[in-house]
Amino acid sequence: MSNFNEERVLSVHHWTDTLFSFTTTRDPGFRFKNGQFTMIGIPVNGKPLLRAYSVVSPNYDDKLEFFSIKVPDGPLTSRLQHLKEGDPIIVSRKATGTLVLDNLMPGKRLYLLGTGTGLAPFLSIIRDPETYERFEKVVLLHGCRQIAELAYGEMITRDLPQDEFLGEEIRNKLIYYPTVTREPFRNRGRVTDLITSNKLFDDIGLPPLDPEADRVMLCGSPQMLQDLRVILDERGFVEGNHGEPGHYVIEKAFAER
Ligand code: A2P
Repeated sequence: MSNFNEERVLSVHHWTDTLFSFTTTRDPGFRFKNGQFTMIGIPVNGKPLLRAYSVVSPNYDDKLEFFSIKVPDGPLTSRLQHLKEGDPIIVSRKATGTLVLDNLMPGKRLYLLGTGTGLAPFLSIIRDPETYERFEKVVLLHGCRQIAELAYGEMITRDLPQDEFLGEEIRNKLIYYPTVTREPFRNRGRVTDLITSNKLFDDIGLPPLDPEADRVMLCGSPQMLQDLRVILDERGFVEGNHGEPGHYVIEKAFAER
């Protein structure tokens, strides 16, 4: 059996000149855990050109959704950004990744800290009922340069609280904190500064990060991950991995595309 399925594009949404999302059909045999990524792509000169993409859609959805940057001259995204409904797309049959609930020890609050397209894996995690079984509060921070890059904000604030199955849990437990660094907005600043200044915690009415109670998932650029890792390590947080759950887990937001 092939390691890949051929799917079809169902819809494409362009958020900005540099960000877009698309949905595809889903082979019923493709299984993944919320927060994981898979390889997707298109054939170029007869060979599959593939990159890692976090799955945005929750694992009970019959479609797949992906969130992508458009890299000028990027081998894949310079092509992918022209996808149209009905186009074929290759999706690996295998999913993997560290941003899964099982890699975290039990805790009270879950912080999902993402910058740019690092938001993607958290969009499936916030739609996983198990997230709300395991945690009393779930804080989703999305950091971007510009307001227009705060993709999915309306889905999170308008649609999810009305969701037939998860709406009540989401209304009671999910705190969404969008923040912007390069233009005026109600929340401003880098995630690192918002944590060290306690501004984030003052704004959301929760205590500062503490390994006793808090669990953290990080997804962003290598430098963002490194800077946050230092902050967490200083506070006694221990990184988790497959088979060894910890206080926090990390995944790089895939950028070379
Ligand atoms: P800034 O505008 O100050 O660089 P990028 O698109 O470069 O990945 O950035 C996405 C968001 O992440 C921006 O708001 C950016 O802020 C912020 N950011 C970039 N590098 C870091 C870092 N090392 N630590 C925290 N936030 C960062």
